Amino acid sequence: MAAYLPTKRLFIGLEIPESCRETLASLDPQIKGLRWVAAEQLHLTMSFLGNVAVSSIESLKQALAQVSVPPFFLPIVGVGTFGGARPSVVWAGIGKGHPHLFALHRRIQDAVLRENLEQDLKPFLPHITLSRARDVAPSALKPFLREYAEAEFGLWKVNSFTLFSSLLGSEGSAYTIEHVTELP
Ligand code: 2AM
Repeated sequence: MAAYLPTKRLFIGLEIPESCRETLASLDPQIKGLRWVAAEQLHLTMSFLGNVAVSSIESLKQALAQVSVPPFFLPIVGVGTFGGARPSVVWAGIGKGHPHLFALHRRIQDAVLRENLEQDLKPFLPHITLSRARDVAPSALKPFLREYAEAEFGLWKVNSFTLFSSLLGSEGSAYTIEHVTELP
């Protein structure tokens, strides 16, 4: 019989200041089929790791501590959807460019790879998930998307990144902070 290996479902993300989270949570247009994310859950995912052996987490934390990019400012700008004709996610964006964010992403991915963990190979499309959508017609979202297409929701200083664990539940996921890496 295979031995039971305890795991945690992990991802690495950026924590967003409370004032910005409150603003984003308050945008909920109350459309049927949209499940808006609670303010305390809002974050920007840098890398999704999936299930990782608990015994590997300490070494991962040490690898992440070697990630060194200077702190930088990131705006939260505009909204959009993933899923095209069948929207699955409503998100807030970060505008264009932001080489520091992409540099941080690359360093995190390198650290994950060095730990022999499975890399998140999806292209990095930085976004803050505001809502999950189910059976929502794009036309129902249009007024919301038009209203906030270019809205500015705040500017924040990224001076750390966070290893989260995620517990799946019937009401959505619950996130726990496992470790915070400060940027030098
Ligand atoms: P999303 O918000 O765009 O869905 C925790 O689940 C975080 O990891 C979420 O922010 C989620 O991004 C992200 N994530 C990336 N890939 C994932 C996957 N394959 N399964 C679950 N979450 C994933």
